[in-house]
Amino acid sequence: MTKTILVTGGTGMVGRLVVDRLAAEGHAVRVLSRRAPEAVPGAAATLAADLRSGGPRLAAAVEGADTVVHLASTPTGGDTRSAANLFGAARRAEVPHVVLISIAGVDRSPLPYYRTKLRVEQALADSGLGWTLLRTTQFHGLVQKICALLAKAPLAVVPLIPLQPVDAGEVADRLVALATREPAGRAADFGGPRVATFPDLMRCYLRWSGRRRPLMPAPLPGRTMAAFRAGRHLAPAVGRIGFEEFLAARRPHPRRGTEER
Ligand SMILES: NC(=O)c1ccc[n+]([C@@H]2O[C@H](COP(=O)([O-])OP(=O)(O)OC[C@H]3O[C@@H](n4cnc5c(N)ncnc54)[C@H](OP(=O)(O)O)[C@@H]3O)[C@@H](O)[C@H]2O)c1
Repeated sequence: MTKTILVTGGTGMVGRLVVDRLAAEGHAVRVLSRRAPEAVPGAAATLAADLRSGGPRLAAAVEGADTVVHLASTPTGGDTRSAANLFGAARRAEVPHVVLISIAGVDRSPLPYYRTKLRVEQALADSGLGWTLLRTTQFHGLVQKICALLAKAPLAVVPLIPLQPVDAGEVADRLVALATREPAGRAADFGGPRVATFPDLMRCYLRWSGRRRPLMPAPLPGRTMAAFRAGRHLAPAVGRIGFEEFLAARRPHPRRGTEER
């Protein structure tokens, strides 16, 4: 049965993959983001709105939706307000199901962004809405972006922590499966296929981008880094596409060290 599904953050790294997949299955997809373009391929409607403001645009976006997939996030602040606005609007519109993405280990790290994600998770669980929560590890694309940033310095100082990056396409597949079923509460955490040290991923990135940089693996101080060193952000290995395979499927831009578009 096809559904009407609102995807907040449907223009982002994982959001656009979710939108593609839902549209390919024949669902009527609404995309909401602050700077949503007038049209998104496959989407039945796009809505430019800031979740932090709420109001009539948000009410219109949720009206008649069977499911809301909440992916939007503003790391600079406001996610708890966005969540309160969205969950309130969804409750008033009697939306049967809200699917939320979060990050593995948000309850085991003092990182302020993780604490915010945990508050959003709790707000959804307390909202009275039907809900499903999926926590995942870091996307390959995020690790690639951080590696590109670190490679700008003549000496790349790389935190000596384990990472377990996951393919955003595989996460999107899982989100779509969850969004088209009944509310399931907390789903099993979803991690990438392998754990590697960040310096090893950086070496892999440097090989792929054809860059040469001396690396300094650094056991950085502080409670947040200690939580990462202890692997509190890791998850069961569910995904199949590793960082190497992710990069191998892309062409590096000759100068920028990011992928060619
Ligand atoms: N990246 C990772 O490694 C990772 C890992 C696990 C979980 N997650 C979670 O997955 C979700 C998506 O991550 P991502 O990396 O795909 O994000 P992203 O690429 O940064 O995209 C964020 C999306 O949210 C929209 N947005 C941001 N603030 C908004 C606001 N106030 N109101 C409305 N729309 C807003 C953005 O569009 P506009 O700029 O147009 O508003 C964009 O569509 C986030 O909740 C994140 O915490 C990410």
